[in-house]
Amino acid sequence: MFRTHQRSDFRGGITVCGIFGYVGGKSAAKEIVQGLQALTYRGYDSAGVAVQNDYGTQIKKGVGAISEIAGVASLRGKVGVGHTRWATHGEVSVNNAHPFSYGGYTVVHNGIIENYAELKRELTAKGYVFQSQTDSEVIVMLLHFYREYPLLTALRKTVERLTGSYAIVALSDRDKGSIVCTRKNSPLIIGLGKEETFISSDVPALYGKAYQYTPLNEGDFVWVHMGGISFYHGETEVFPKLYSVNENASCHEKRGYAHFMRKEIGEVPNAVNNTLTLLRGQEIALKRVFSNATRVLLTGCGTAFHAAVFGKYLLSRALKIPTQAEVASELRYSGEKVEKSCVCIAITQSGETADTLRLLQSLKKQGHKKLIVITNTPRSSVTAFADITLLTGAGPEIGVAATKSFTSQLAAFTFIVQALSGERGEFITLPKLLTKTLQLESETKEIARELQGQKSVFFLGRDLDYPLALEGSLKLKEVSYLFSDGYAAGELKHGTLALIEKGTPVIVCLTQPRLAEKTLNALHEVSCRGAKVFLITQYEKYSGVLGVEKCLLLPPSSPHLAPLLLSVPLQFLAYHTAVLMGRNPDRPRNLAKSVTVE
Ligand code: G6P
Repeated sequence: MFRTHQRSDFRGGITVCGIFGYVGGKSAAKEIVQGLQALTYRGYDSAGVAVQNDYGTQIKKGVGAISEIAGVASLRGKVGVGHTRWATHGEVSVNNAHPFSYGGYTVVHNGIIENYAELKRELTAKGYVFQSQTDSEVIVMLLHFYREYPLLTALRKTVERLTGSYAIVALSDRDKGSIVCTRKNSPLIIGLGKEETFISSDVPALYGKAYQYTPLNEGDFVWVHMGGISFYHGETEVFPKLYSVNENASCHEKRGYAHFMRKEIGEVPNAVNNTLTLLRGQEIALKRVFSNATRVLLTGCGTAFHAAVFGKYLLSRALKIPTQAEVASELRYSGEKVEKSCVCIAITQSGETADTLRLLQSLKKQGHKKLIVITNTPRSSVTAFADITLLTGAGPEIGVAATKSFTSQLAAFTFIVQALSGERGEFITLPKLLTKTLQLESETKEIARELQGQKSVFFLGRDLDYPLALEGSLKLKEVSYLFSDGYAAGELKHGTLALIEKGTPVIVCLTQPRLAEKTLNALHEVSCRGAKVFLITQYEKYSGVLGVEKCLLLPPSSPHLAPLLLSVPLQFLAYHTAVLMGRNPDRPRNLAKSVTVE
């Protein structure tokens, strides 16, 4: 039976895809489908469910999200596992969908098996016939190869052969009623309910199901069966620390909105308010880490990188020391020497992005002691490497495109700067201002009508507006599939201006008065070449500037806070353009929220 005991926290982490497993008294298929629905943001190229009963294990799988897979409800049994896939190896097809089975063994896998080709050759020579092009199928073959051993031992022997990253959950018809699992560089969580156990890729999928959870440590093995759970680290039995599951099932409901993305943009004011509340009390720790700092290096991927660029502008001005923002995947292998006096700030909503994790892992290994992590996910893998973890309070974000989490990251930087300068008060007004900004939705929709179907769209901004221009563009291309580009307003004339033609939409972001005239120069340069210019600013005096097709007026606010307000219409713009173009903004093609392979 399961016993508890204090032990080290969650470590490591790379994953794509979502896993959900069940052992208990209810219909496994039903529980797993609900779990996978909550994990769909991790990928939806294909999905599948395996359920075991007295007669064996049955699998239903196919291309698309779990809601599109036929026949799952017909699976009878109280033990099972499911998977929702974001393809890395092998095309999107039924054959490449998980679970995989062979000779009574069934497996789902997240991560990448780097030596799969070599293992595949070896197993093929032994007579195994592969059905898929995936790296994952070698796992089920290896388990079968070690079939003389009990299932858990077979799993230990299997992972000894694997190089790469994995979260693996396996069943066997020889060991009916049991599930075994393990992980390396890919998260896996055990959730405890009332006489039932869940296995999940993340905590939110456990909301409304489990009361407590424990994230597995690297190298842990778990045997879940009808009588209880046994945890091992390697071969030694261990008793992990349990955390309570924060019941917040409403994050998985659209609450009357057509899409999660729309609902989550509406939650921006709350997310920022929670973030500022959560960060209170971190001032002393921040001052300690920044004391004697000679440089600040900020990093992240995608949207989080844009937050890093925003932080770079704010901190360079406040601290007057060199600051630099680099994409994590580039910085990791750049060979750049990061001296001990350099404060490194990593931003990651999920806390699981492999590029960011690998970088932090290597800095930690080098003995770095000034690592700050800004994440939206408590106890995520990245927190294991942090000297200070700054939690944003956006709550689970289900839409693949980051919205409320991005604005919360910007709020975290505003907090850091105020904490270091000792200034107070300004951001108390932020949630209210953001609520007011939400009223710009219908005007933003009018601009979205002008963007739909365009060949390309450009976003311009200088200084603190530049990262917002980058993010406005990324958001638009992610969910509408329109080509767009974000530019430092002064840089456009050095080449990209060649792409501006009659009718090309250009969104000009202008919240920084210091450089307003310069930004207006860029505005005139594009408008006199026929661009359709849409201006977003908090300064009414610019609304009538020659060449402006439409101006969105943000609520009056200081230049420090205005970029946070600006993030809201940019998110609305992407959302409404996508909807007008018939896209599903919650599930942009080819993307996953947590891209966690390098
Ligand atoms: C993926 C998502 C992006 C996200 C990026 C970084 O690529 O599709 O929306 O910005 O990962 O994610 P993180 O969780 O590290 O912030």
